[in-house]
Amino acid sequence: MSTSGGGSERVRILGIETSCDETAAAVVDDGRHVVSSVVSSQVDLHARFGGVVPEIASRAHVDLIGPVIADALGEAAVDLGGIDAIAACHGPGLAGALLVGVSAAKALALVAQVPYVGVNHLEAHLYAAWLEDPDLAPPLAVLIASGGHTLVVIVEDHGRYRVVGQTVDDAAGEAFDKVARFLGLGYPGGPAIDQLAADGDPGAIAFPRAMPGETDLSFSGLKTAVVNHVRRSPDVAIADVAASFQAAVVDQLADKLVAAADAADASALVLGGGVAANSALRARVEQVAAASGRKAFLPPLALCTDNAAMIAAAAWWRLRADGPTPLDAGVEPSLPLT
Ligand code: KG4
Ligand code: ZN
Repeated sequence: MSTSGGGSERVRILGIETSCDETAAAVVDDGRHVVSSVVSSQVDLHARFGGVVPEIASRAHVDLIGPVIADALGEAAVDLGGIDAIAACHGPGLAGALLVGVSAAKALALVAQVPYVGVNHLEAHLYAAWLEDPDLAPPLAVLIASGGHTLVVIVEDHGRYRVVGQTVDDAAGEAFDKVARFLGLGYPGGPAIDQLAADGDPGAIAFPRAMPGETDLSFSGLKTAVVNHVRRSPDVAIADVAASFQAAVVDQLADKLVAAADAADASALVLGGGVAANSALRARVEQVAAASGRKAFLPPLALCTDNAAMIAAAAWWRLRADGPTPLDAGVEPSLPLT
């Protein structure tokens, strides 16, 4: 630990993220100041398979982890001796992929004789909000929507979360990816649909909005409705299909987020995960937040998608609350948020 200007002790954490197809490392001070953040995406390696292949992901993490950590330390202009704790995502995620980051973090923690902190990936997504805006006041209503997860969470305070809704089948990003694959738009599907939807009419086709009035979400029926519609009407304008599908996803996500915020009297609406990049979702959340006098917190894409700055940020709070994680703790591929 080093002493900063006001005499308080600065805690500098090296964070590592390898839960899926991004190899990432970052140096963050006091859970809120990002000193460096390096993300190496494997999207190109997985694109031809139409999704993430676990064994390919693990092997790529093994190749990339050393250089990515070296880059993060280099960009921060520190060596291991200047790091106060080392954190890695230990779940949820792909077992082999998680093991690469966790093993690297433990080895470095042993060498540097500093604490190791295992971090929940979903909790880390919540901390992306505080990284951008340390003054955000709980309770917050947060939507985490990625290729693997879709959940609405009320953050009551640091370390106190309530999952108030989650998908009962596909994740929102998975629905984007599956529909895009069916329409021949490639992988990942979200950006392709987002772009194509700009030329389409979101009201052209009345796709279903699943589970109205309930807190959980569902996207698999919507995906089937798109497939059935296109099979029945092969001449339909693909841009209209993309725009109408996207509108159905956005309606469901935004409605459930606002309902959760209302029920918890949340002061802000927050987005996280790759689907938070969706232009229609961002516009809608901004609009509904303004209408209800709430803050909308829409992090830049680099903080929405998987990164290690959020791991280091969450680790700072975890270290304060719980202390170090024992070095014999493993990885937990199905780790829940609470
Ligand atoms: O958080 P993320 O980078 O990785 C994990 O799945 O953990 O999220 C990736 C997901 C993919 O399903 C991708 O299609 C989706 O986020 N995505 C989008 C957009 N950009 C990425 N979905 C809708 N609109 C976008 N602009
Ligand atoms: Zn994620």
